[in-house]
Amino acid sequence: MIDNQKILITRKYPAAGINLLRQERFCLTFWEKDRPMTPEELTARAKDHQSLLCTLTDRIDKRFLDQCPHLDIISQFAVGYDNIDIPEATRKGIPVGYTPDAMSEATADIAFGLMIAAARKFFFLHKTIINGQWGYFNPTAHLGFELKGKTLGIFGLGRIGVKMAQRCKAAYDMPVIYHNRTRNPAAEKQLNATWVSFDRLLEQSDILSVHCALTPETRHIFNARAFEKMKPSAVFINTARGPIHKEPDLIDALNKKQIWGAGLDVTDPEPMAKDNPLLSMENVCVLPHAGSGTMEARDRMSVLAAENIIEFYKTGRVPHIVNPEVLA
Ligand code: DGY
Repeated sequence: MIDNQKILITRKYPAAGINLLRQERFCLTFWEKDRPMTPEELTARAKDHQSLLCTLTDRIDKRFLDQCPHLDIISQFAVGYDNIDIPEATRKGIPVGYTPDAMSEATADIAFGLMIAAARKFFFLHKTIINGQWGYFNPTAHLGFELKGKTLGIFGLGRIGVKMAQRCKAAYDMPVIYHNRTRNPAAEKQLNATWVSFDRLLEQSDILSVHCALTPETRHIFNARAFEKMKPSAVFINTARGPIHKEPDLIDALNKKQIWGAGLDVTDPEPMAKDNPLLSMENVCVLPHAGSGTMEARDRMSVLAAENIIEFYKTGRVPHIVNPEVLA
């Protein structure tokens, strides 16, 4: 039942979802600053609230949960939830909601865009203009490569991976190979995609695009050993989570020309330092974790995050839940 339950809203989220909460009889507390709360600030405020609307910049770890075991629900504004200690929330009986699929189109666009941007050196070429280096037309300088018919490798062929593959097939007729722990027969059929082992994915991809969740198994899975196996002509794309690749190993692989280039929307740490060597590499394009950054996606995310809370208090159900066993 909704009865003046107090919700702590950790960032400025789009009005679409916040208005839904306002229409119900919730009591909303907003964190007004531009930066996320420190762990201490978050804990202090969450202690006298019943639920939390949070996102990936909020650290919901065991220390936090030990101090706030009273929370009725944690609603995450994101599809990824690696900032939340899910086993600990589950032990404490706290349901965790999230916002799957709301940003799939937007994130696939960013992966597709980064692929073209890296293959054609967009960011480097833009910088040459800013630096006053736009000289005469030079027939042999700073050449990229064409994507037509290149092999797309997807690591994590789920909602976003499928949309990236659809774009690559439609635009460039790219054959699709993928690696998942469990096969995705529907996507195989739709995309004529072939499941391959992780090593084959590394060896055969011209573009290798990462779309998996960050888990203990995927943390640093793209490391020196993995980059060594990739083609020297390959481009590595990561729009999922920064720690899935090991950044010093990626820098090393690019310097040694073990791979050709990279397109990153996620880094480790975030924000990336402005003197990071990746930012001055000709074949690398980096964005500041902007995958879901469309008005449409962010509105959908805020609505799903709000609905998770509203439904929970009205019906005891959380439409998009990470740990359903808590409510079973
Ligand atoms: C997510 O949803 O997990 C993205 O990284 C941020 O929108």
